[in-house]
Amino acid sequence: MSDTAHRARPQNDPALLPPAIAAAARLADSTLEALLPRPAGRQARVQEAMRYAVMGGGKRLRPFLVLHAARLFAVPESQALRVGAAIECLHTYSLVHDDLPCMDDDDLRRGRPTTHIAFDEMTAVLAGDALLTFAFEILADPATHAHADVRCALIARLAEASGHSGMIGGQVIDMLAPSFIKEGSFGVDDVIELQRKKTGQLFEFSCEAGPILAQAGAEDRARLKAYAEEMGVVFQITDDLLDVTSTPEKTGKAVGKDAGMGKQTLVTLLGLEGARAEARRRAAKAVEALGPHAARAPELSGLPFFLLDRDA
Ligand code: IPE
Ligand code: IPE
Ligand code: MG
Ligand code: MG
Ligand code: MG
Repeated sequence: MSDTAHRARPQNDPALLPPAIAAAARLADSTLEALLPRPAGRQARVQEAMRYAVMGGGKRLRPFLVLHAARLFAVPESQALRVGAAIECLHTYSLVHDDLPCMDDDDLRRGRPTTHIAFDEMTAVLAGDALLTFAFEILADPATHAHADVRCALIARLAEASGHSGMIGGQVIDMLAPSFIKEGSFGVDDVIELQRKKTGQLFEFSCEAGPILAQAGAEDRARLKAYAEEMGVVFQITDDLLDVTSTPEKTGKAVGKDAGMGKQTLVTLLGLEGARAEARRRAAKAVEALGPHAARAPELSGLPFFLLDRDA
């Protein structure tokens, strides 16, 4: 290969990402459209709210990760798409509840009124609950994988990732952070722990699902997990940066809220430049963790660097 050809396509090429993300989002959307229940009967209102929350946009980054990690292990796309739909339902439930008045009290999400504004609080709580359980219903279906032990492994990993010491654990630390700050210190390591839980764990599930579906070895699974762990932190740091630097038009949600609510983030602790530097350092670590898979999955190795410059 000539020197120029070698330089033309760096392994972590962020330019690959927009079309790859758009393609994965189209696949995720059509899978979700087919799987979500159609409103019918006396429970139609909650089914309408489930559809409203899930089908109203979203970057579909978690299905993107499922798809590309699964491709590395030659997993059939139909299986990866079902797992991508499951994680997107679970992620959307976390957003519906995160936006409630008892949590972040937001009225804009994905460029539209939040679910509790478009419907009402009772319906939003129930639609979130129903999306959470629907995620597990998708995984438990034999169409996700022929072997019951593989389906059980997916279910167990998603339960762990989304539960009391995973996403929910991170959410409660996030909500209680202002009181932890008052009681004493809540520093960089505490913020990283909170980010790994509230955001990183669902990324970890998304990247481990491929190796689980393929019944791949422990080393491969550990590489994908380590990649996701760093990527989750990069993603949440950039979400916290956007809260300071972006606009509701671009992000589809309110900005400037974290400081106002007394949230502790790397931006409040290290400033904009310090937080950006930490995100850059962790993007490099994420790609390093992929090891030999980095060159075979340019979409995965490009993603952390693409996220560093995102504006939405
Ligand atoms: C927002 O996630 C919640 C966080 C974990 C920061 P996304 O930015 O992936 O939200 P959507 O799915 O694209 O709306
Ligand atoms: C929420 O984090 C992460 C979840 C687990 C839902 P944020 O509160 O920062 O997410 P946004 O900024 O509202 O999307
Ligand atoms: Mg929140
Ligand atoms: Mg929020
Ligand atoms: Mg945020």
